[in-house]
Amino acid sequence: MEFKNLLIENAEGVVTLTINRPQALNALNSEVLTELGSALYQLEYDPGAKVIIITGAGEKAFVAGADIKEMAEMSSYEGHRFAVKGQHVMMAMEKMKTPVIAAVNGFALGGGLELALGCDFIYASTKARLGFPEVTLGIMPGFGGTQNLARLIGPNRANELIFTGRMITAEKALAWGIVNEVFAPEELLDKAKETAAAIAGVGLLGVAYAKDAIANGLNMTKEDGFRYEASLFGVLFATEDQKEGMAAFVDKRKAVFTGK
Ligand code: CAA
Repeated sequence: MEFKNLLIENAEGVVTLTINRPQALNALNSEVLTELGSALYQLEYDPGAKVIIITGAGEKAFVAGADIKEMAEMSSYEGHRFAVKGQHVMMAMEKMKTPVIAAVNGFALGGGLELALGCDFIYASTKARLGFPEVTLGIMPGFGGTQNLARLIGPNRANELIFTGRMITAEKALAWGIVNEVFAPEELLDKAKETAAAIAGVGLLGVAYAKDAIANGLNMTKEDGFRYEASLFGVLFATEDQKEGMAAFVDKRKAVFTGK
């Protein structure tokens, strides 16, 4: 599929996926959501795509939200379908085996913050501003924000951010545990690529199963989560990567993982 609104570049397994609609601060309209869903599906089944970084084009924004001009005319039914469409993208990132890192280079508002929260973790630039302005538009977050933010930082801070519609700085987002690290704007993408390359070099089956255990385990009782973890741990002993990783340790050499 040709993408009108996405730039995709693969450098040795580290894929940088850039939302490229800077004239609208990369706002997510239906077309961008369709393209994102399809790009993520393609990347999930591309053995050459080991880690994905999502970022926004231009100097100003990661993604300034769902497209308000498109939403302005929606009926209740269309609003519901639009939310479900956005949620499919967020869920696809959570369900895919490939790790996804958000590099938040500017405004991450509404659906843009939801896109970042849908990733496995977030790096931000000092310029980033994060928030949920939906209530200022007479609506509420609809691409998973109420669920993902409250699970990540607890309900009280999520309530404050969502009820006020205020933006917070990258530093505050760091203190609240929304972002993992904050970098100077010119460093952000390189730092994300550095971390992505480190992940791309380890046993990716172990990473994929750990991602699965963390994401699914959060929806289980602790005992079920432990059981699930042990099952996935056991499955890894049937892989070539486990044999290679442990043999390399014993032989005092660097492991060469094949993802098999
Ligand atoms: N949807 C559509 N267009 C948007 C947009 C959005 N979310 N955000 C910015 N744009 C457009 C602007 O309309 C403007 O286009 P024109 O030049 O054609 O007028 C262009 O991008 C540049 O934006 P501004 O001139 O507003 O830039 P600024 O620097 O003055 O302000 C901003 C930046 C504070 C981020 C401001 O653009 C803004 O408040 N944007 C909207 C943020 C928002 O409310 N997001 C939540 C959307 S609702 C949502 O996401 C629902 C959900 O959960 C699914």
